[in-house]
Amino acid sequence: MRIFLIGFMGCGKSTLGRSLAADTGLKFIDLDSYIEEQQGQTIPQIFANLGEEAFRKMEHDALREAGNSEGVIISTGGGAPCFFDNMDYMNQQGETLYMQLPIEVLADRLINARVERPLAKGKTRDELIDFITKTLDKRDEFYLKAKWITNPADMPNEAFLTHWGLKAV
Ligand code: S3P
Repeated sequence: MRIFLIGFMGCGKSTLGRSLAADTGLKFIDLDSYIEEQQGQTIPQIFANLGEEAFRKMEHDALREAGNSEGVIISTGGGAPCFFDNMDYMNQQGETLYMQLPIEVLADRLINARVERPLAKGKTRDELIDFITKTLDKRDEFYLKAKWITNPADMPNEAFLTHWGLKAV
C-alpha cells in the first residue's frame, strides 16, 4: 500500500499524512522534509541557493526514492504533481488523493505560513488569492488526475481508512 497526498500549499497534506500513519501504523514520509534532510538545507535555502529548477529535479528524484517504499503515506510538495511525469508515476505506484480546498481557505492558511514557502513569501492576502487562482488554473490539470478528490476538512480519519480498506492499529 502506498498513498500519495497531493494538493496546493497549505491544504494540510503533512498533517493528514502524519495522522493517518499514526492510525494505521504505515510509515510516513514528508517529501519536503526528506529533501531537506538529504540536502542539509531548508526548502527556502534550496530555492535561494540553487533555484527552483534544481529543486524540481531533487523533488523528482526524492519522489521516486520514497515512492519505492512499501506501506507508506507520502505527503508531497504542492508543485510535485505538476513537473515531469510525477503525477502519472504516483498513479502507477499507488493511491493518490487530491486534497481540494477553497481558495479563500488556502489563502488564510498561507498568510500565517509564508516564511517557509518561497513561492508565497511576502504576499498580502489579496496577492495570495490572485497567486493561488492563477497557479491552480495551471496545476488543476495535474491535480485532477488523482484517483480520489475530496475536501478533507470535515472528513474523519475513519472515512479515509474505509475508502482504502485500511485497519486501525
Ligand atoms: C511548493 C510547495 C511547497 C514546497 C515548495 C514549493 C509549490 O510544499 O515543496 O515550497 O510549488 O507549491 P508544501 O505544499 O508542503 O507547502
